[in-house]
Amino acid sequence: MSCSINVKNVSYEVNEKTIFENITLNVSHEEKIAIIGSNGSGKSSFLKILAGLIKPKEGEVFLFHDKMNSLKEFKKYRSDIGYLPQDVSDFFLCPTVIEDVMFNLRAKGVKKDEAYEKALNTLTELGIEHLEERNIYDLSGGEQKIVALAGILITKPKILLLDEPTNALDEDAEKKIVEILNSIKKSMIIVSHHKSFIESLTPTIYKLDNKSLQKVN
Ligand SMILES: Nc1ncnc2c1ncn2[C@@H]1O[C@H](COP(=O)(O)OP(=O)(O)O)[C@@H](O)[C@H]1O
Ligand SMILES: [Mg+2]
Repeated sequence: MSCSINVKNVSYEVNEKTIFENITLNVSHEEKIAIIGSNGSGKSSFLKILAGLIKPKEGEVFLFHDKMNSLKEFKKYRSDIGYLPQDVSDFFLCPTVIEDVMFNLRAKGVKKDEAYEKALNTLTELGIEHLEERNIYDLSGGEQKIVALAGILITKPKILLLDEPTNALDEDAEKKIVEILNSIKKSMIIVSHHKSFIESLTPTIYKLDNKSLQKVN
């Protein structure tokens, strides 16, 4: 099963207003691509379509070469897709950082001790082990974002869809994320405004502009 995403002629509209149309994009096995574009150009909506959270108006989405005919069909791949929303404030299910990061593993049947060890390792890799016992809702937006990313990475999804993973992060945190994302050989779509961050991850950049997606270089 190669980890690919194929999008054919996808269009999206909100309240009868076209946000984008005829987007065609292929992300192959282990390929990383970035999407830039001004506010409101539809980047987050596009990622939500790929994560199976909203339906496109027209067009086709294939995950792992399997055509997704309805939102229900995305369920099959839910654990293979790691989706980091732009706004993570509603993303958490447990009160403390360590519990939340462990939760996804516990849900897969991993025993408590093993889940704890893995969660702590993931927090350490991301440089946030000092947040282990903190209440998630007392954290800053940037800290919450990195905790959410830890909760995704720990389950080792096959495809990563990351919506502005570094907004509100400081330089050190951003550096750690670059190292980690560069070490992960998976298909990835990264939405970001942050030019140097994107360029340190991939040379393949697309821009959502004027309702269409064009390759920048
Ligand atoms: N559920 C929604 N209700 C109303 N407008 C929406 C909704 N989702 C997206 N939009 C609008 O669609 C446009 C694209 O939004 P979005 O995908 O968040 O863009 P971006 O992530 O590029 O900033 C924006 O104008 C936004 O206000
Ligand atoms: Mg957005």
